[in-house]
Amino acid sequence: MSNEWLDTIVVTRHDATARIVVLDLVGPDDAELPEFAAGAHVDVLVDDSAGLVRQYSLCGPPDDRARYRLAVLAETASRGGSLGMHRLREGDRLRISRPRNRFGISYEARRHLLVAGGIGVTPLLAMAHTLEAGGAEYELHYCARSRADAVFVEELERNPRVRLHFDDGPADQRFSTAADLGRPDPETALYVCGPGGFMDFVISSALTAGWPSQAIHKERFAPVEDTAAHAAGATFTVRLAKTGREYEVKDGETVLDVLLAGGVDAPYSCRQGICGDCIVRVLAGEPDHRDDVLTDRERADGKFTTCSSRALSPILELDL
Ligand code: FES
Repeated sequence: MSNEWLDTIVVTRHDATARIVVLDLVGPDDAELPEFAAGAHVDVLVDDSAGLVRQYSLCGPPDDRARYRLAVLAETASRGGSLGMHRLREGDRLRISRPRNRFGISYEARRHLLVAGGIGVTPLLAMAHTLEAGGAEYELHYCARSRADAVFVEELERNPRVRLHFDDGPADQRFSTAADLGRPDPETALYVCGPGGFMDFVISSALTAGWPSQAIHKERFAPVEDTAAHAAGATFTVRLAKTGREYEVKDGETVLDVLLAGGVDAPYSCRQGICGDCIVRVLAGEPDHRDDVLTDRERADGKFTTCSSRALSPILELDL
């Protein structure tokens, strides 16, 4: 991982719900933080000694360079990442990467439909700030189990462009793909973020209703245990075009694991197929894509995630 870490300080911390903590970070001596576009995330070095890094979306207004806001859900299957974030206190120091973004606003669209499930609301909040500030036409649908599980509810309720949908609420306020996505519209971009099952449901409903896949923008908050599925499969060989060296990738290993073990300076961050930092180009062979970040067009262009994807052919040549 080739990260230039930034030092920040937790300036405010509050428990927004029983499982979500909201943290505001400032630079040392209140130095201005790097600018970011709505939808961006940062890597957070949760535990330096264990090398534990997690990705969190920036959910505050992108025009605020004085502080970054994160909202972190305590995962029930946490291996230390989210629980480490929940243990932070005001005044603690936290190292983060510069913001990165693979989930930006599509400015070719005239209208923007933002659909969030649970903690997936975080990047969409930043998008809503930007769209609101720019006078754009947008709607934000935020689905949560209950009012008590949702963040920033009072603020969101004041925005007429926001619709809140609670699973335990009256039937007429629950999220309906038919009513809330509406008919496919070539001038509307659809943005979906949330847990895997929620995203699969919304995206497959949209595709079935006739939304073109290029109008659908997604960012998945994948559970950590997905990593095991990424590593399962038949043995194949990876050849690096720049050096000609070959590496065998066995069942239980990822391409990225093998390259790093072989001393290759391969880029990466999340290791879960969701951030896009490990993307390289395939020059020969047939990839078995297992990521949640590449678009169909990017896959057709030969892009490949080394942390999660494998090969269907015996040899895969990479532009590395
Ligand atoms: S390291 Fe994040 S997608 Fe591969």
